[in-house]
Order: sequence, then structure tokens, then C-alpha cells
Amino acid sequence: MAQRQPLMAGNWKMNLDHIEATGLVQKLAWSLADLRHDPARCETAVLVPFTDLRTVQLLIEGERYPIRWGAQDVSVHQVGAYTGEVSAPMLAKLNCAYVVVGHSERREYHGETDQLVNAKAKQALGHGIQPIICVGEKLAVRQSGDQVAFVLGQVDGVLAGLQPDEAANVILAYEPVWAIGTGQVATPADAQEVCGAIRSRVAELFSAQLAQSLRILYGGSAKASNIVDLMAQPDVDGALVGGASLQAEEFARMVAFQTLA
Ligand code: PGA
Repeated sequence: MAQRQPLMAGNWKMNLDHIEATGLVQKLAWSLADLRHDPARCETAVLVPFTDLRTVQLLIEGERYPIRWGAQDVSVHQVGAYTGEVSAPMLAKLNCAYVVVGHSERREYHGETDQLVNAKAKQALGHGIQPIICVGEKLAVRQSGDQVAFVLGQVDGVLAGLQPDEAANVILAYEPVWAIGTGQVATPADAQEVCGAIRSRVAELFSAQLAQSLRILYGGSAKASNIVDLMAQPDVDGALVGGASLQAEEFARMVAFQTLA
């Protein structure tokens, strides 16, 4: 089986200006150093507001912190008269490793569809940025027991038309909407059920080999006290972390989850 390097990705959402960002990234780096974290055992990333990106980039590159960075959205367009949009080439110029696409908050408040999310993922991939593509069901779907079918429908939509070499650079994040920011984390078994089904679907769509190397994250009220059990699931390769990523020590402990067990 392919070795998948775990990834803890902090989704800051619309929090922290560029000055506050400096403080949090420094504190995170110090906390990781205090824990003697070996970056080979789990990768750390921060996904920050656009206005923080240049500052975070210069800090991390200057200090050589073992942390990667990225954005929380990207335009479907490459250049031109699209007021307020930020393009994939602009993010690539800032050495962004990742960009979140299709977060449930963007689907909910900005009407993003699987088709649009697919176009954003293609833009990112076309410019050497790995998209972290979010999928996940709302509470009503979970209550009716249709979560697997629903999420696999989203997976089909967001991966439509990708070439295998593009799909190999995708990261999928299973984020049940009812667990995001609610403190109500999915059980490890809930997370495994859907993450395992996603991997099987990727194997059908592309190949077993590609599916085995693809990283699948869980997101939704993940924190240091529940990360060990989540990471013990065979198809959970990391977490997309909201609230807990705003606390440097807490997030560093999640990155160093192997030492918490
Ligand atoms: P949460 O957010 O960890 O605060 O639940 C996760 C996310 O929205 O990515």
C-alpha cells in the first residue's frame, strides 16, 4: 500500500489580519519545535485569508519553518475583468501549495455548485497548486442515512473530466456540514465509512493505485482530544481544522498526533 503522508491543514476562515497572522505562524512553529515534531511524520499547512498570504509566505520562507501555506478560494478565471477575484496564477506566484475549494460555507453562502468547484480545482491544478476539495452532507441527509450516496455524487461532480495525472494531485476533505464549527465531531466510524467509500469511488473512477496514494482528510470539530481516534482510521489521512487551528499549541499537538496516543 502506498505510504500517504498525513496532513493537518488549518483553515483560518475569515480570521486574523496579516499582523495577527505573523504571531500565530511564529507561535505554531515554536510549538512544533517544542514538541520536537518531525515534519516527515505529518505535514503542517495553514490556509489563510488572501490579505495574509504574502506575509505568511515571507515569514515561513525566511525562517524556513516546516509549514506550507495556501488560500481558501480561487477564481475559475485566469485573468481579466472579474472584480474581486483572485486567480490561480496569482496564488502560484505566492508559492501557495494548496487552495481550499468547495468549502461548505462557500457552497452555502455563495451558491457554489459541484460544477463550479470542479472548475476551480482545474484552475488550481493547471497552475501547480493542490486543491483541497471539500465534500460533505448536511444533517438532513445524515439523518436519512443517505450520506454515502450523497457524498459520492459530489465526488463524481468535483472530479469530473480530470486526467489521472491531475487527480493524483487532488486532496479530498470529507466535512459533514453538521460537524463544522458545532463541536459535534463525527465518530471515527462515521468518518471512516465515508472516507473509505470515497477512496473506493476514486479507485473506480481512476485506478486502485491512484486511490491508494490520494490523501483524504476529515473536517468538522477536529481537535487535539479527538484527532488520535480519527487518525487511527485506515482511510483518514489528516484533518482540515477550523477553530482549533487558531490556537497554536492546540494545532501543533494535532500535527504531532502520533505522540498523543
Ligand atoms: P471546524 O471547521 O474545525 O471549526 O469545525 C472545519 C472546517 O470548516 O474546515
